[in-house]
Amino acid sequence: MKNGKFLTLAVESSCDETSVAVVADGREVLSNAISTQIEIHKEYGGVVPEIASRHHLMNINAVTAQAMEEADVDWREIDLIGVTKGPGLVGALLIGIATAKTFAFVKKKPLVGVHHIQGHISANYIAHPTLKPPFTALIVSGGHTSIAEVTSYGSCKVVGGTRDDAAGEAYDKVARVLGLGYPGGPKIDKLAKEGNPNAVKFKRVYLEKDSLDFSFSGTKTAVLNYINSEKQAGHEINAADVAASFQQAILEVIVNKAVFAAKRRGDDKLVLAGGVAANSALRAMLSQECAESGIRLYFPPPVLCTDNAAMIASAAYYLYKAGIRDDLSLDAYPSLPL
Ligand code: KG4
Ligand code: ZN
Repeated sequence: MKNGKFLTLAVESSCDETSVAVVADGREVLSNAISTQIEIHKEYGGVVPEIASRHHLMNINAVTAQAMEEADVDWREIDLIGVTKGPGLVGALLIGIATAKTFAFVKKKPLVGVHHIQGHISANYIAHPTLKPPFTALIVSGGHTSIAEVTSYGSCKVVGGTRDDAAGEAYDKVARVLGLGYPGGPKIDKLAKEGNPNAVKFKRVYLEKDSLDFSFSGTKTAVLNYINSEKQAGHEINAADVAASFQQAILEVIVNKAVFAAKRRGDDKLVLAGGVAANSALRAMLSQECAESGIRLYFPPPVLCTDNAAMIASAAYYLYKAGIRDDLSLDAYPSLPL
């Protein structure tokens, strides 16, 4: 406790960001140290799991020291240790979990393992101090595309998910083919601003009537086929138009399904989360649709959209308040369902 506030220190290492944060009362970020490995993995066009684990191991102590220093707290003031338990890369997760368990054991603190997506949703509790469940959540990241009904701080029901690629994965693959580099999401976001979203009509996949599931592999393949056939025909490709048209096809479906889900449940709140939530076109489209439907839209600032430990600390705090505890047998769960 510090100044009467409950302090959670959390660790996130599920993919290519090593992050440690200190959050007060589940909502106030005292520090959120993030060491990204993007520059290292760029060379390979995607995250190399073994390299990610090694870098987490190399960086975790320095990132922890930075988080403690920036928060200006002492270990005695920390009340809880939170950590991402899955889903993610197993080796990467294990570094964070071993670190968190060591802190919990040596410093005699309670430990709570957090589902990574629960963390992404919780980024909104930090960004919006008065936000409370229930609400509908749209989670779009490199590994997930889901719609969930959030019933309380610690629990939610998934009502839709991707049957193949995640939205961020589709962004990254299309960006790679366009030669934009890794990670592709932010690159497509930027390039699409200079393109015409109606230049090429890529297919929109809605699946069965009223389904809240997604399928992006068909759209992704359509983009790849278009690029190949244009190249074969000797035509020059307008990358900005392709990026804008691909993005339009993907986002139209995401936005329509998310708003439909909120309306169907009678929710007047829609919460956007995950790395792709940083996308400017998605924010703009969703803002407009929500405004027209009388739904209030919440999304975090970009730094809380992509992987970070502050969101894990917030989720851990609310799980702890709900009576959830883990012990030192806590394991990594690479494909943990929500
Ligand atoms: O949440 P996150 O950091 O990691 C996972 O949990 O997967 O999300 C990373 C994903 C990557 O696919 C990246 O390309 C995408 O988020 N992303 C974006 C943007 N910023 C990050 N996609 C579209 N537009 C962006 N501005
Ligand atoms: Zn994530």
